[in-house]
Amino acid sequence: MEPVEIRPETPADIEAIHRIEAAAFKNEALAELVNRLRAEGALLLSHVAVLNNEIVGHAAYSLLTITDGERVSHCPALGPIGVDPPYQGRGIGSALVRAGLDAMRDLGYGLLFLVGSPRYYPRFGFQPAQPHGFSSDYVEPGGPHEHFMVAILDERAPGGLRGHTRFHPAFAEAEAS
Ligand SMILES: CC(C)(COP(=O)(O)OP(=O)(O)OC[C@H]1O[C@@H](n2cnc3c(N)ncnc32)[C@H](O)[C@@H]1OP(=O)(O)O)[C@@H](O)C(=O)NCCC(=O)NCCS
Repeated sequence: MEPVEIRPETPADIEAIHRIEAAAFKNEALAELVNRLRAEGALLLSHVAVLNNEIVGHAAYSLLTITDGERVSHCPALGPIGVDPPYQGRGIGSALVRAGLDAMRDLGYGLLFLVGSPRYYPRFGFQPAQPHGFSSDYVEPGGPHEHFMVAILDERAPGGLRGHTRFHPAFAEAEAS
């Protein structure tokens, strides 16, 4: 594959990010979700993939809450992630996910959550989160749960951490629109 550079977004990238997320998901609401997270200061990290000076992919990271009784913790979540359709299937999504895993580890986080395809993410080390004691609004009780995943970035994690996870409220609003 051609060399792809993964780097944090700059203000000049914002329009391209919106275009790519909307095209990848065929859904304006998910592109708006990125703007909303940014406007609320909730984008923990926003990575762009650059190929031949063109932005061809994007991945967003925000914090979710984990509630266990009275205890509330925060962990990062990946999403949305999108690659410009003409550039899909060339390893750009993989480069974004791997860079995100490294970045979250460097920031000192032990876990990274996502909701996504159980056919795609296990190759990067993501595994079903429910058996680790995490629940999600994205999992119906007794229903399939494999799409709700976690990557363990630090072998000391989860370290007793468990509970109900909730993405930033902007996710629910994007899905409702
Ligand atoms: C998912 C996505 C980010 C992957 O990026 P990419 O650059 O196409 O991925 P890569 O080239 O690194 O990897 C290609 C592999 O991903 C698989 N793949 C791509 N999209 C997938 C999906 N939605 N579900 C499952 N597998 C998927 C391909 O089948 C291919 O598998 P293979 O390596 O076994 O042949 C990109 O395809 C995309 O933007 N899709 C539309 C938006 C989306 O669905 N986002 C993620 C939600 S889970």
